[in-house]
Amino acid sequence: MKMVVLLGSLRKESINRSVAETIRERYRKELDIEIADLGGLPLYNQDDENHPPESVTSFKQQVAEADGVIIVTPEYNWSIPGVLKNAIDWCSRVDKVLINKPVMAVGASPTAFGTIRAQAHLRDILASPGVQARVLPAATNEVLVNFAADKVKDGRLVDETTLTFLDKVLSQFVKQIKQ
Ligand code: FNR
Repeated sequence: MKMVVLLGSLRKESINRSVAETIRERYRKELDIEIADLGGLPLYNQDDENHPPESVTSFKQQVAEADGVIIVTPEYNWSIPGVLKNAIDWCSRVDKVLINKPVMAVGASPTAFGTIRAQAHLRDILASPGVQARVLPAATNEVLVNFAADKVKDGRLVDETTLTFLDKVLSQFVKQIKQ
């Protein structure tokens, strides 16, 4: 099964990158997981949407070909970072590659709230007409890695409780995709 990660941070030492790399490594036997290069995308411009640059075309193809999308994102100013919104905006126009695409969300933050506001905004965005993703229901599947500075070490998520919960949500996600 093929998955693509949309990573909302461009920072080299990003805690969310550490979480994304952990996901890629931990499930590599069952899942083929790639981390998309969102930093290589130009800012969305409607003038270019019918003839976008190659970076956009190949990114959208990567999303289209994936069985599922895992969004791993920090919270910026109580919402999602512009880099992630920009990627979703490209996906929402012309060939709308997120429509009905299974999506799950993960977020890490050094604060107590673990990106909860960003994820709430993200769910709104993912329900919009041009996106209409098939998002894993929040009820028991919100992966909010709070106090993440203590849970990430040497570029990997190491907190056992969080990893066990991640296993549960990932298996729910795979189940949803197969349905
Ligand atoms: C933040 N940070 C932050 N944290 C949070 O929990 N809620 C927020 O609204 C914000 N807002 C915010 C805005 C901007 C512009 C920055 C740079 C940071 C802190 C943020 O969670 C922290 O820097 C994380 O380490 C960012 O994620 P990465 O880059 O480590 O993955």
